[in-house]
Amino acid sequence: MNLSVQLAPKNKQGLLLANPVMTASGTFGYGTEYSHLFDIQNLGAITCKGTTLKAREGNPQPRLAETPCGVLNSIGLQNIGVKALIKEKAPVWAGWRVPVIVNIVGETVDDYAQLAGELDGVAGISGLEVNIGCPNIKAGGAEFGTKPETAAEVTATVKAATSLPVLVKLTPNTADIAEVAKAVAEAGADAISLINTVKGMAVDVAARRPLLGSVSGGLSGPAIKPIALYMVYTVAGAVDIPVVGCGGITTSSDALEFFMAGASAIQVGTANFINPRAPLDILEGIEQFMKREGIKDISELIGVARG
Ligand SMILES: Cc1cc2nc3c(=O)[nH]c(=O)nc-3n(C[C@H](O)[C@H](O)[C@H](O)COP(=O)(O)O)c2cc1C
Repeated sequence: MNLSVQLAPKNKQGLLLANPVMTASGTFGYGTEYSHLFDIQNLGAITCKGTTLKAREGNPQPRLAETPCGVLNSIGLQNIGVKALIKEKAPVWAGWRVPVIVNIVGETVDDYAQLAGELDGVAGISGLEVNIGCPNIKAGGAEFGTKPETAAEVTATVKAATSLPVLVKLTPNTADIAEVAKAVAEAGADAISLINTVKGMAVDVAARRPLLGSVSGGLSGPAIKPIALYMVYTVAGAVDIPVVGCGGITTSSDALEFFMAGASAIQVGTANFINPRAPLDILEGIEQFMKREGIKDISELIGVARG
């Protein structure tokens, strides 16, 4: 059986994954935190926490709230910053066979350019995922992914600053996701990943105030799966670069839905908080399905529900 997928066919370096199961940014740390739990190197790729130019403390507590079938988070991009990532994490990744993709986020277009430039050519980093729509940050971030023009500007800037394969991660909090996807593809993205979290809030009734310290947060988990699936379906029909599906994927059956809707690979996010082995369980479930159905190559499944 062949489960390998090429996520950056137009890029010189390419981004070849041994299988299409990735982890979603912000839900799997730097990979190292999970490496004692199972052989994470059996996964297709690891996507690390959103990385900024300077280390960040994140938003005020509380930053997490459970909701029916999901979770609201307003972590606010707590991370160690790009310099520490290059010094402390990349050398570890350089010894791994599983590709690591660094998720980057900036508050200005120039931040993205600097981040991409600093990460270019660093051993242990196989690609960049550009977060253009984090709903947790009040300044910057959220704006870029809501409009095709600004999404394209960030994409073109990052592409000019790196030779690494570039995935652009779309936000669902926009009027027309197909238009944003087309603009990003035209600006040179090697692949598109979607979706990031859906904006939401919760109120603490006893305290009579918003439950999250920063009022609003991003909703993730099974609650957003139908939204994510339809957006993946829509975007896969609008662009001719690989699409990576993300949003509420908890079982191998969820993953198969995304492949059939047109995703070439998938990312597992919130499910990691319930079952840290979820990505591996999902991979094994996909393999079992392929065996049972006599499917020799994962590509036979991609987009089959598109008619
Ligand atoms: C606690 C938490 C932190 C996250 N941090 C990031 C981040 O730093 N960068 C990013 O692009 N997405 C981040 N995300 C979004 C996830 O990568 C993913 O797009 C989203 O949660 C939907 O997938 P899921 O429903 O499988 O979790 C975060 C999500 C959660 C729950």
